[in-house]
Amino acid sequence: MVLRDASGLDALLSHRYPEGTVTHARSKRFQKLRERDINKEVFIREWPELGLKVMDSPGDPDPSLTIKDGRIVEMDGRVESEFDAIDRFIALHAIKLDGASEAMQLDSLAIARMLVDINVSQREVMDVFASLTPARIAQVVGHLNVVEMMMAMQKMRQRKQPADQAHVTNWKENPALLAADAAEAGLRGFAEEETTVRVSRMAPFSALALLVGSQVGRPGVMTQISCEEALNLRLAMKGLATYAETLSVYGTIPSFLDGDDTPWSKGLLASAYASRGVKSRFTSGSGSEALMGYGLGWSMLYLEVRCLLMVKGAGSQGVQNGSISCIALPESLPDGVRGVFAENLVAAALGLEVAAGNDAMSSHSQMRKTAKLMLQMLPGTDFITSGHSVMPRKDNLFGGGNFDAEDMDDWLVIQRDMQIDGGLRPVQEDTVQKIREKGARAIQAVFGEMGFPPITDAEVEAAVCAFSSDDLPDRDSVADLAAADAFLDSDKTALDVVAALARSGFKDVAESVLEMQRQRVLGDYLHTSAIFDKDFKVQCALNTPNDYQGPGSGYRVAGETWQQIQNIPQALDPQKLIEDEAPDGDLVLHRLGDALEGQVPEVVVAVGPAFGTVINRTLADLSHAEVLSAIVEGIEAEGLPARVVKVWHGADLADIGLSGANLSGSGIAIGLQSKGTALIHKKGLAPLNNLELLSMAPNLSLESYRTLGGNAACYATNRAPHPVPMSIDNMARLRLIVHTTLLHHREVRQIIADKPVEELEVMFP
Ligand code: 5AD
Ligand code: CA
Repeated sequence: MVLRDASGLDALLSHRYPEGTVTHARSKRFQKLRERDINKEVFIREWPELGLKVMDSPGDPDPSLTIKDGRIVEMDGRVESEFDAIDRFIALHAIKLDGASEAMQLDSLAIARMLVDINVSQREVMDVFASLTPARIAQVVGHLNVVEMMMAMQKMRQRKQPADQAHVTNWKENPALLAADAAEAGLRGFAEEETTVRVSRMAPFSALALLVGSQVGRPGVMTQISCEEALNLRLAMKGLATYAETLSVYGTIPSFLDGDDTPWSKGLLASAYASRGVKSRFTSGSGSEALMGYGLGWSMLYLEVRCLLMVKGAGSQGVQNGSISCIALPESLPDGVRGVFAENLVAAALGLEVAAGNDAMSSHSQMRKTAKLMLQMLPGTDFITSGHSVMPRKDNLFGGGNFDAEDMDDWLVIQRDMQIDGGLRPVQEDTVQKIREKGARAIQAVFGEMGFPPITDAEVEAAVCAFSSDDLPDRDSVADLAAADAFLDSDKTALDVVAALARSGFKDVAESVLEMQRQRVLGDYLHTSAIFDKDFKVQCALNTPNDYQGPGSGYRVAGETWQQIQNIPQALDPQKLIEDEAPDGDLVLHRLGDALEGQVPEVVVAVGPAFGTVINRTLADLSHAEVLSAIVEGIEAEGLPARVVKVWHGADLADIGLSGANLSGSGIAIGLQSKGTALIHKKGLAPLNNLELLSMAPNLSLESYRTLGGNAACYATNRAPHPVPMSIDNMARLRLIVHTTLLHHREVRQIIADKPVEELEVMFP
């Protein structure tokens, strides 16, 4: 069946927001809601039998553990003879028997409280978790709400300082663009960079471009390529990748069998990476089993805990979890986002490094995406995303990223707003462009030296400035693939790349690529949660452990880090915004001495202390000359004279207006602040009880001021006023509040407290 042609898909999707039985008048508001991004998603009710339940399924076993003669003979309601291969692997390799009986005796609520209790150390919690069964672990985190989970994550994250991982790919698989993007990612602060392939035979070249580019961006950034596992291992052994993270595990046996795997085969692969000095982590996460048709009636979280215990049993230092590619499935269900965060937390509590998801598209709704992100970003995980695209979404070969190049500034501002470290740092365009150029030039040189199909200057130049790979010329992909095959089959390794870089003048890049090879031999970065700092020093759970134990402890954004995080290039220097203006030639104000009380019908216009002197324009960017002449025109058009005075003793609008009214022969005055805010006041009224107030200066036009002038004259002669024309710009306050503050500050600075109101003679030359 072709779903689209049969309009079956449309029919299916039209149920996304059921219209219900129509017995009443329809709502235009509901119509708008139906069209919102959030309602492009599919939400379903739970169906536990199919594994469509995130936490606490009726099918989940009750926790239990029986140890006999130093081995587990019963676990979570199943005796040894009923174990499937996953149970067996966990029982043999993943549960610390020493202390297990005591740990299993603990009430699950008591363990949940240890997770959030700042008086219980990370180490103590890990000791307990090391001896719990899968069902017990699922039950423990089931007691926590998301805020408690965040508190727990803040303590259980393994590395002291959080970090972020980048996705670096492009649709054309252009190596110059890959290297430029990789270089930019390093500069932006990503500690790991991951690429993948559209055409799998391009893998050797993409891995190479990523490696070279990343070291240009920041020496010590680790790189990996996500591709078929045997090829992945070969590339790592050639020195073209320094970590691997796509060793998938699943929580039910049939899901495993679909991938031709067992826990043991995955364990073997992990050992192969480790033995070659390659950092590796597994991948797992809620929803994969149900998606593959084998949820078998268990909750997603229970299955994920089984996965995590396999990861631990296989001896891996960490995991990429948080549903990953399946994220939309748990998100279709109740408490899906909570359940997915629970699995991140369990991984950390088991002592694993966590690359916490947020990589695959998780929502159409920006609000929902950000809300979910906060669970990982606020407490910090080892890697807040498992892949944050440094290029636009369409170039993300991981099926489109959740956060991408266009979201970079939002991310940086959120870090600054909350004083948190999301792993990234503000950058200057110029620095970025230089590093992109160097990255592209370096890979161009390597291709040239190694006899690969040349990278042209035009490609380099396009790569430096590109928005996406659309901006790059096409390459001869047949030639590229043939050369990539030959490179893979040759005995050439990263050392030949080092030599090529050194020969072509990229000595510093050569040194970094060589250092990465040396580090693979040393192997220090195989420890849990290891990343390199800029001096190639390992930072991991062993030497920089997360020692959070409440306020004043753990990783805190302070000192130089805080300076870097707050210094986004968009931040203006407020001092520069308040320099006094030069007087405007269109307005001449002659000072005539103290103003006296008027004796004839008139409207007084009382202006603020800075008016027409050190401030000459309103927030709506109208000149004081134009504004004042519009007001005077309006007054005179209604048949009254206008008299202009300046209030020196204060800058408050009510005060300015009332001071004018007290001097006005009619008792009516207009008060006008220099930023353009205006009102009509009347002698005898309470200061805050004016006749008319135009409080949003940015929304006012000359016509508004003219009408306001006319209205003041109407009040003075007991006639009905007219509505003031005004545009409504709801964003004006948001855009202009800083300028408002600073303009007002300038007005306040001009106050002379004991100076009486001054009469002005106004001329518009
Ligand atoms: N469980 C297991 N593996 C996963 N991957 C993505 N999501 C999951 C999951 N929930 C794996 C894919 C691929 C890589 C992107 O991560 O199989 O190898
Ligand atoms: Ca990843």
